[in-house]
Amino acid sequence: MILKTKQLTKSFGGLKAMDKVDFELKKNEIRGIIGPNGSGKSTFFNLVSGIYDSDPGSYIEFDGHDITFTPPYKIAGYGLSRTFQLLRLYQDMTVIDNVMAGYHTKVPYSFIDAVVGRKKNLGSRESH
Ligand SMILES: Nc1ncnc2c1ncn2[C@@H]1O[C@H](COP(=O)(O)OP(=O)(O)OP(=O)(O)O)[C@@H](O)[C@H]1O
Ligand SMILES: [Mg+2]
Repeated sequence: MILKTKQLTKSFGGLKAMDKVDFELKKNEIRGIIGPNGSGKSTFFNLVSGIYDSDPGSYIEFDGHDITFTPPYKIAGYGLSRTFQLLRLYQDMTVIDNVMAGYHTKVPYSFIDAVVGRKKNLGSRESH
C-alpha cells in the first residue's frame, strides 16, 4: 500500500467531519473520492497531507512512513502533496517563480552545495 489510513477521525468542535475512516491505496492505483457538499472530501485530503491534525486514535501511513504526526513540508518531501479546489498562486510572482516555490523538495543539493558546486545524495535520489 502506498497510502493507508486507519480509524481516521476529525472533529471540528461538536461536528465530526470524519469518523473512523479506513482507506487503502495501492501503488499505481488511481482512485477518486465522491460525496455531497460537506461530506468530508477536502477534510480527508487536508488530514493525509498534514494540513489538519487528526483526532487521537487515527493512523496515517504513506510509502512505509507513519505520517500521523508529520508536518506538511516533510510529507511533501516523501512525495505526497495536495492541490487546492481553488488555485492558490502567489499573485505577485511570475509563473516560473510559482513553479520554483514548490520545487525545492525535489532538488538533491542544499544551498551550501550549490554555492560550492557540490552534489549531494545523488545516488539515493536517482532510484526514485
Ligand atoms: N476548518 C474547519 N472548521 C470547521 N468546520 C470545518 C472546517 N473544515 C471543514 N469543516 C466542516 O467539516 C465538514 C466537511 O467539510 P469538507 O470541506 O471536508 O467537505 P467536502 O466534502 O470537501 O465539501 P465540498 O464538496 O463542498 O468541497 C463540513 O460540515 C464543514 O463545514
Ligand atoms: Mg471540498
